[in-house]
Amino acid sequence: MPQNETPRNETPRNETSRNEIEIRGLRKSFGDNEVLRGIDLEVARGEVVCVIGPSGSGKSTLLRCVNLLEEPSAGQVFVGGTEVTDLDVDIDAVRRRIGMVFQQFNLFPHITVTENLVLPQRRVLRRDKVKAAAVARENLDRVGLAEKADAYPAQLSGGQQQRVAIARALAMGPEVMLFDEPTSALDPELVGDVLAVMRVLAGEGMTMMVVTHEMSFAREVADRVVFMDGGVIVEQGPAEQVVGAPREERTRNFLNRILDPAAEARPTSHLPPGDQPG
Ligand SMILES: Nc1ncnc2c1ncn2[C@@H]1O[C@H](COP(=O)(O)OP(=O)(O)OP(=O)(O)O)[C@@H](O)[C@H]1O
Ligand SMILES: [Mg+2]
Repeated sequence: MPQNETPRNETPRNETSRNEIEIRGLRKSFGDNEVLRGIDLEVARGEVVCVIGPSGSGKSTLLRCVNLLEEPSAGQVFVGGTEVTDLDVDIDAVRRRIGMVFQQFNLFPHITVTENLVLPQRRVLRRDKVKAAAVARENLDRVGLAEKADAYPAQLSGGQQQRVAIARALAMGPEVMLFDEPTSALDPELVGDVLAVMRVLAGEGMTMMVVTHEMSFAREVADRVVFMDGGVIVEQGPAEQVVGAPREERTRNFLNRILDPAAEARPTSHLPPGDQPG
């Protein structure tokens, strides 16, 4: 696809690494439960990586370790060349570089859409009112919601609320965007508008890690797909390989389940050996 051919990763920069995100030997336990068991992953500047895998495989925990919403038990995470797992790091400064969008939009219900975008800019970036309002307008426009600037969140559809949440993250000027199942809470007819915004961001060269079950999005937009299971990366590669022709049995089983949930209920003896689900 065209965005793979453009030299998005060759923009000049000061840092030594071409990777926007580097994860080395990352482990995370909750009590006795080790949910990340040695993750090594690099995301180049401008790259879009989709993370897929079964429930409980550690996808959200992985994203949350990147912006330190969870403290890793072992290993290192670098964002933009800065080790965020360094004990002396300024966590707030790190978080300012990383935008995160969750399944739940978490907008403040009692203030307008614009105010939802202005507030974090004022509090975290100490921007003045005029500048913050201008940046809010610009980013609402970016997600196609300029006309909803004065609406309250409850007056918007779920898809519109999620686009506001994306605009709120973008208004902070992040270098990296993390998305954790951004369309999973939406009615199917609202998913497309949110994915369209993400597609535009990807096209603009934003570095993105996206946990998603939207395989068509992964195939179209992701530079790389990572399949996780049981706290490890089982396989990764271009979408056409990982989704289209997975090498690992576990990946095949997972994809069979999500691409055709009814398949498990059907007898499988007529399928060729490579296509056996379960
Ligand atoms: N704060 C926490 N305290 C204790 N256990 C946790 C916590 N957060 C996650 N876990 C456990 O870690 C494991 C991985 O959870 P995680 O949310 O990362 O999985 P996931 O791949 O995102 O799953 P899903 O697809 O359901 O969102 C699960 O067993 C979960 O119960
Ligand atoms: Mg999750």
